[in-house]
Amino acid sequence: MGHIEHLSTLFDLKNKAVADVGAGSGAFSVQLSQAGAIVSAIEIDPDKVAAAREKLPSGVAVLEGRAEALPLADGSQDLLCYFFSFHHVPQEVQTLALHEACRVLNPGGRLHIVEPYPYGSMFDVVRLVEDETVVRTRSHQIMATLAQNGGTFELLDKAEYTLSRSYPAFEDFLKQVVRVDPARKRIFEENRAEVEERFEESLDRSSGGHLLHQPCAAYHFRKR
Ligand SMILES: C[S@@+](CC[C@H](N)C(=O)[O-])C[C@H]1O[C@@H](n2cnc3c(N)ncnc32)[C@H](O)[C@@H]1O
Repeated sequence: MGHIEHLSTLFDLKNKAVADVGAGSGAFSVQLSQAGAIVSAIEIDPDKVAAAREKLPSGVAVLEGRAEALPLADGSQDLLCYFFSFHHVPQEVQTLALHEACRVLNPGGRLHIVEPYPYGSMFDVVRLVEDETVVRTRSHQIMATLAQNGGTFELLDKAEYTLSRSYPAFEDFLKQVVRVDPARKRIFEENRAEVEERFEESLDRSSGGHLLHQPCAAYHFRKR
């Protein structure tokens, strides 16, 4: 199962205004655009913004900005997405980020947040570089609270699936994990032997591939 494949079962993306918050390199922004959405990719890191502007198709607007101060007009979006990015928003501004989601969505607009769980073979390797147990756990707790409080957002759907990524070589894995946060590079280098050993023993080669698996939950809300 892929993020956009799942999202498409819940929401018709064609000609919809969609913001991808914490877009990183924009891989999912491109898939949203290919599914017919009019996409704004929002990213805080200026280096990633510059790289995405070079690489992404012209149909995707790449905007430097923060989840907690979105560079988008009030009521301008049909859908706001977070793919594995909400737990990266600093704790002290996560509530603000949800207020911003509410501000930029039109009435009835959707908020789709996919968060990884703190387990799975991908997590087992990445935790040697950065242990995200606390931030991921808190993020799922925030989603549960948002679903229960009868406030701004109504939970329409929660689905659990596993995202699998192929890493033919350790270097491919290293490149991707460091891309998320360049500060990880030094930690990686200091623990390279241990990380590489864990990587090799965690790889799923059962179907002739080189897969790491990351279980996650997708929360799909409607703005009331
Ligand atoms: C794990 S990456 C996910 C990237 C992409 N969504 C994906 O799944 O490939 C998290 C991204 O969120 C970005 N980010 C962190 N804090 C942010 C904030 N406050 N506002 C916007 N983006 C943020 C990071 O720079 C990083 O690119």
